[in-house]
Amino acid sequence: MKTVGALLWEPGTNSGWSVEEIELDGPKTGEATVKLAASGICHSDDHLDTGDIPLPWAPVLGGHEGAGVVTEIGEGVVDLEVGDHVVLSFLPSCGKCRMCVSGQSNMCDLGSGVLGGTSPDGTHRIHAQGKGVGAMSYLGTFAPYVTVPVTALVRIDKDIPLKAAALIGCGVPTGWGSAVYSADMQLGDTVVIIGTGGVGMNAVQGSRQKGAKHIIAVDPVASKREAAPQFGATHTAKDLAEAAELVAGFTNGQGADRVIVTVGVLTPEILQPAQEMTRRGGTIVLTSAAPVMQRDIQLDLFTLAMSGKRLQGTLYGSTNARNDIPLIADLYRRGEHKLDELITKEYKLEDINTAFQDMRGGKNIRGVIVYED
Ligand SMILES: NC(=O)c1ccc[n+]([C@@H]2O[C@H](COP(=O)([O-])OP(=O)(O)OC[C@H]3O[C@@H](n4cnc5c(N)ncnc54)[C@H](O)[C@@H]3O)[C@@H](O)[C@H]2O)c1
Ligand SMILES: [Zn+2]
Ligand SMILES: [Zn+2]
Repeated sequence: MKTVGALLWEPGTNSGWSVEEIELDGPKTGEATVKLAASGICHSDDHLDTGDIPLPWAPVLGGHEGAGVVTEIGEGVVDLEVGDHVVLSFLPSCGKCRMCVSGQSNMCDLGSGVLGGTSPDGTHRIHAQGKGVGAMSYLGTFAPYVTVPVTALVRIDKDIPLKAAALIGCGVPTGWGSAVYSADMQLGDTVVIIGTGGVGMNAVQGSRQKGAKHIIAVDPVASKREAAPQFGATHTAKDLAEAAELVAGFTNGQGADRVIVTVGVLTPEILQPAQEMTRRGGTIVLTSAAPVMQRDIQLDLFTLAMSGKRLQGTLYGSTNARNDIPLIADLYRRGEHKLDELITKEYKLEDINTAFQDMRGGKNIRGVIVYED
């Protein structure tokens, strides 16, 4: 079918997104076509444009956070039907590999191909200007229709609004799981969340749900600090120095139990102050993506080792999509997890470059592209 999509023809050059006609193929074996209701604007797509995540191929159809309705299924698909409501998970899970069966489906073997530039079978479902187009995360949600592997689709109940559900494809579980699983949040903890955008605001919510006592949201943008309390932040700080002072006061100088880093781009100078405000035996979770070629960091390794601190990376907040996407949808239904309030502004696909400018300008918790019915 002919449709439209937002492409980068020269990733890594800050060229912005080109909204143009694309040709989308129907589903092959193990795939489905989905009509999207909405797509979130996650910082990870911007990393493709800036080159923080370099792509050796082009063009790419961006977008990896969406939800919609299944319109067609390919051969061999037995667990989905036309009309099902689905969240598109930015990481697929096969359910069979060692990582999947050991409860770490965020690190499924299939994940190794999500930035490979083709569908899992090595061919393209999208074409533009006579060329095969790769999709971000096998998905490419910056288009109103997508044809994707069903390993990336998670069915949800039909009473969950699809616009809100779109965010459960990446930013929400990543932030929430960073607190709930990766940081192993405990009742009564003091936690610092550094960077409260679309990902970090969900780490705030996860911390509240796990019963953290002091939840300090750090962000240089005033509107983020003003919004943070409605998601569960008990205190806010504009920078790390201010946060460190609050932590010292709450913990008698001991330090925070957990520090979660969810800034837009992970740069090395954050690590040492984050470590200094973490207590002995505490955990620092790194959720943000760093520039891929970043190698040199300044960190007091002696203290890290001798104070038994844990520096913990996380992919997808250590969540298991097939368990945690419906779980978060249910938390939303019960009023425990806010999704609608994360959406600061809605955009049409044609205005996607404005949406990214607004993200870079710190204007939105989450911007969302909404597609017509
Ligand atoms: N690990 C994963 O699996 C995973 C998944 C999704 C996104 N990510 C990454 O998470 C990061 C956050 O994504 P997002 O969509 O929430 O981005 P975002 O741009 O919506 O939010 C980032 C926030 O960090 C704030 N910030 C920037 N510098 C800061 C600093 N020095 N101190 C405190 N706050 C600061 C910004 O004002 C903004 O509010 C990105 O790097 C993204 O690529 C990782
Ligand atoms: Zn994302
Ligand atoms: Zn797997």
